[in-house]
Amino acid sequence: MLITKIYQPSELKTAASELQKGELIAFPTETVYGLGADATNQQAVKRVYLAKGRPSDNPLIVTVASLEMVQQYVAEISSAAKKLIDEFWPGPLTLIFKIKPGSLSKAVTGGLETAAFRMPANEITRKLIELTGVPLVGPSANSSGKPSPTTAQHVFHDLEGRIAGIVDDGPTQVGVESTIIDMSTDQPAVLRPGAVTVVQLEAVLQQPVSSEVHQVGAKEIPKAPGMKYKHYAPDAQVLMVRADQWPAALAWAAKQSEKIGVMAPTEILQQKLPQQCLPFDLGNDVVSASQRLFAGLRNFDDRQKVNWILAAAYPETGLGLAYMNRLKKSSGNQFFK
Ligand code: TXA
Ligand code: MG
Repeated sequence: MLITKIYQPSELKTAASELQKGELIAFPTETVYGLGADATNQQAVKRVYLAKGRPSDNPLIVTVASLEMVQQYVAEISSAAKKLIDEFWPGPLTLIFKIKPGSLSKAVTGGLETAAFRMPANEITRKLIELTGVPLVGPSANSSGKPSPTTAQHVFHDLEGRIAGIVDDGPTQVGVESTIIDMSTDQPAVLRPGAVTVVQLEAVLQQPVSSEVHQVGAKEIPKAPGMKYKHYAPDAQVLMVRADQWPAALAWAAKQSEKIGVMAPTEILQQKLPQQCLPFDLGNDVVSASQRLFAGLRNFDDRQKVNWILAAAYPETGLGLAYMNRLKKSSGNQFFK
């Protein structure tokens, strides 16, 4: 079994040399931790799927440190896409482009004629990519199906012994994965909501952006292949609680004979809770709730095991759309009623 080493940001050179040898190194980003491998090394990329237990038809994001790295694979970046890059890179926006045929291995693209590119805000990781000298594939560094990792410890929990190392830069800031926008067709479309919102994208593009983020059945060929897989699922059953439903939800919890995880805003947790409740504080708004969502789901899987989690729902606008997209998946769309 591999020994998974924790690298401090001062040890990037060693981490980069591991990547150059085809080893897997997890890296921090502003959204969630990513699982890095040399995107030009097919063997290394294949090991990413193995380490995560990820279905191999689900393509990977190519993580870059410069626009030049994108231009190696993409023949033409439209002026609209250029505007988005100028405005939001480095940052939590992933763009999908048509690629030069054969320029990336099938292991990266899942056989598609397009690929997803992202330049993370985290400077340490951009430095790591520069030192390695090639783009890194960077799916979230969790076991497939589990909540994405927002700390190095989450990565270690899921992937210890399967990867060579983790660059630890503390907890991530955004907490939910990047917005994905498809720029490979005439009509820009958001495939996954994130911290860069549809309103922000439309303001920069000066045109409507479609954002029909939908779940597809296993038989359809999904637009974003990842859409068909179960995601973010803790072992417990999550029930989403709308703001006005907290009194009823806590009354329900008071009648249970087992412990109930309660992921709620600070003001809810300040009341006297039924003794069955194990509180997890989501903070005061949807920004802090997004930061802490995955850590909360993991807490009730790994530390305080429960069968039920009550988790705060937020209005589906702005960042709330991204938060609710993840929470709905983790709950199988179940609201407390
Ligand atoms: O914030 C993030 O984007 C994080 C950090 C680590 O950078 N990464 C991340 O990667 O969330 P991953 O692999 O967990 O999610 C990437 C999603 C998948 O659902 C995949 O199906 C989709 O991007 N994707 C990748 N290439 C695509 C393509 N050519 N067309 C459509 N969807 C694509
Ligand atoms: Mg993922």
